[in-house]
Amino acid sequence: MPTLFEPLILGKLSLSNRIVMAPMTRSRANIDGVIGELTATYYAQRASAGLLISEGTIPSAMGKGYVRIPGIYSPDQIVGWKRVTNAVHSAGGHIFLQIMHCGRIAHPQLLPGGAQSVAPSAILPNVKTWIDGVGMVPLETPRALETSEIPSIIEEFRQATVNALAAGFDGVELHAASGYLPMQFLSSSTNHRTDQYGGSAVNRSRFVLEALTAMVSVAGADKVGIKISPAMPFNDLTDENPAETYSTLANAIGGLGIAYLHVAQTALTPDFHAILRPLFTGPYLVGAGLTKESATALLASGQADGAVFGVAFIANPDLPARFASHAPLATPDASTFYTPGAQGYTDYLPK
Ligand SMILES: Cc1cc2nc3c(=O)[nH]c(=O)nc-3n(C[C@H](O)[C@H](O)[C@H](O)COP(=O)(O)O)c2cc1C
Repeated sequence: MPTLFEPLILGKLSLSNRIVMAPMTRSRANIDGVIGELTATYYAQRASAGLLISEGTIPSAMGKGYVRIPGIYSPDQIVGWKRVTNAVHSAGGHIFLQIMHCGRIAHPQLLPGGAQSVAPSAILPNVKTWIDGVGMVPLETPRALETSEIPSIIEEFRQATVNALAAGFDGVELHAASGYLPMQFLSSSTNHRTDQYGGSAVNRSRFVLEALTAMVSVAGADKVGIKISPAMPFNDLTDENPAETYSTLANAIGGLGIAYLHVAQTALTPDFHAILRPLFTGPYLVGAGLTKESATALLASGQADGAVFGVAFIANPDLPARFASHAPLATPDASTFYTPGAQGYTDYLPK
């Protein structure tokens, strides 16, 4: 069985190790969702990961849910991301773009013209969000999407994939975790629809399947991955029967032949990895709360093909080398996770 330091074939890529950097929002883009040189430095510093997954990136202005997060829908945004992909590739790394539509986890102040956020159903999330210059504010009730509007959102995921490839990414990841729009469709507490996108697990999986299929249609299956977080309550949602929902989803995805399934932050019971791993034949990436030791054990027992690390990469840009040399890990400063500028971003240096 492999160790963290053995190569992994993922789509047509040969990753130099099985240590993956988790997608992490860092809120360093400008007001227009355009990232600058600092972000290229940040990702290039971490290019020794077998694979980098970018921070959640919005496919349209209506997908925005946080201050200063990047987009992939305007020409300037694409140019900004090109700097990142060039820097990562020059440093010998590989990078996927995570496409994130926040759905109801968005305050009108973040949306064009103060628009109401959109969601599968008009259900208020009990969540607060940060607005620059204002502070923490409670979210408002979203508007339920009309059935006739859904194809245009699926189209946003397709176009975002086209744009990501134009920006030089090695592939794209659908963010179907953490309570954002795709997971709002999957979860019974946030999806009360009576059309073909609601009700049964098959129907609640339809949005995710259509988004993935649209992404695959332009990138090819080998350049598309998905992240899920079964039964994770973050962003105020629950599912009546997550084992059924996620096995239905995994069965449906299985036929697409995508590059990987990334599973993070599940509830402890049931054991979602035991349920999902046999349903997906491609590379299976596990994340959340891992240490070098627990990740090594997951790979050694065949429970995962790759290990995804989040916060450890923030303060340890050379994480694979630190693991290999048994060096101590630096602790990140959580107060600078989402603040503008270089502090807490590009100033953690390799050992
Ligand atoms: C600062 C920060 C930002 C995050 N942003 C995202 C994101 O944009 N997309 C996503 O899928 N997960 C996001 N996550 C979750 C991570 O991808 C990961 O699942 C989580 O940190 C657990 O892994 P860890 O224990 O190794 O940090 C974020 C986590 C942190 C700490």
